[in-house]
Amino acid sequence: MTAAIKILHLEDDPCDAELVKSALSEDGIVADIHLVNSRDSFINSLEKGGYDIILSDYSLPGFDGLSALNIATAQYSDIPFIFISGKMGEELAIDTLKSGATDYVLKNSLSRLGPSVKRALKETCERQERRRAVEELEISHEELRNLAAHLQSVREEERLKIAREIHDELGQILTALKLDLNYVQGKLPADQQVLQEKMQSDIALVDEYIQSVKRICNELRPGLLDHLGIEAALEWQAEEFQRRTGIKCRVSFSPDSLDIDIDRATALFRIFQEALTNVIKHAEATTVTARLSERDNSIIFEIADNGIGISEENMRKANSFGLLGMRERVRMWDGQLSIGNEGTGTTISILIPRDNKIP
Ligand SMILES: Nc1ncnc2c1ncn2[C@@H]1O[C@H](COP(=O)(O)OP(=O)(O)O)[C@@H](O)[C@H]1O
Ligand SMILES: [Mg+2]
Repeated sequence: MTAAIKILHLEDDPCDAELVKSALSEDGIVADIHLVNSRDSFINSLEKGGYDIILSDYSLPGFDGLSALNIATAQYSDIPFIFISGKMGEELAIDTLKSGATDYVLKNSLSRLGPSVKRALKETCERQERRRAVEELEISHEELRNLAAHLQSVREEERLKIAREIHDELGQILTALKLDLNYVQGKLPADQQVLQEKMQSDIALVDEYIQSVKRICNELRPGLLDHLGIEAALEWQAEEFQRRTGIKCRVSFSPDSLDIDIDRATALFRIFQEALTNVIKHAEATTVTARLSERDNSIIFEIADNGIGISEENMRKANSFGLLGMRERVRMWDGQLSIGNEGTGTTISILIPRDNKIP
């Protein structure tokens, strides 16, 4: 058996109330109707709560349906409200709908009441389900965002750890090996030409390994970022980029030193790296100019290239995680990222507030 629908019925005429009751039961609606006939009893009942629907007469002695509607919509907008009136012109009917009533039924055509109640309840149910779905979606977005932020920081920590281990372990072994080889070379008789040359090339090889280890460590996590700050790290990255690609790359700072904490610095640095990777992969540019500055307690970072520019369509490509990753990093601080493609080339503009914390 389905549960009875709880109805709050505002009506001063007991006969009309009876007619409404039988119209509902004729339509197979099992209803638990609470009849009220004054402002106070209407408000008291609403406050007690638990109603699925409100039915209301339009004109009552000492109170009126429109005021009842206003009270109901102000605080209980989820409960459908249907007017049942003896006389209601079309204009007035439309006004009541505009004021938030769900429907209106004339007392001389009560056969419409059942279907109207059923439709109102169905719509409320659907609206609540939609709202629940939206809420769930928002929660799951929030969770995903937190997970992304967490993964970023775990990844950064991991990189730092690996960079340190490689540097400490491999770096030390290679340095010791180089010292040993130098020692052995010094002991080799000068007339052992072949051995001398072999030793020389081994020492050069070890030197190369030492350089590789440094490069790998720097790529994993530039020591400059931790030791000398974002300015030095960005400059180093720009030089590296220019050396590797031949694309001119300049970074400027205003003021010269910005005093940015390590978490924001890491985010800005990774965004710069991603933007430069995009320049190599997509831009067909010959220059990149980046500028780090501050305004109104926010950090502004702009990276512009003079390449082919990004189309709207390319900005939203599926399986493109570079731009998405940049957006997420910026969002972690309630910052903003915009991509400009007016004129020539692409400009990525980022704003990060200075005084909030990572979630
Ligand atoms: N600097 C740029 N110049 C021109 N197009 C770009 C630039 N950066 C990104 N794009 C376009 O935007 C798309 C999305 O970039 P991204 O999210 O980094 O993904 P991916 O680099 O993996 O393709 C790229 O595929 C490219 O078409
Ligand atoms: Mg990319």
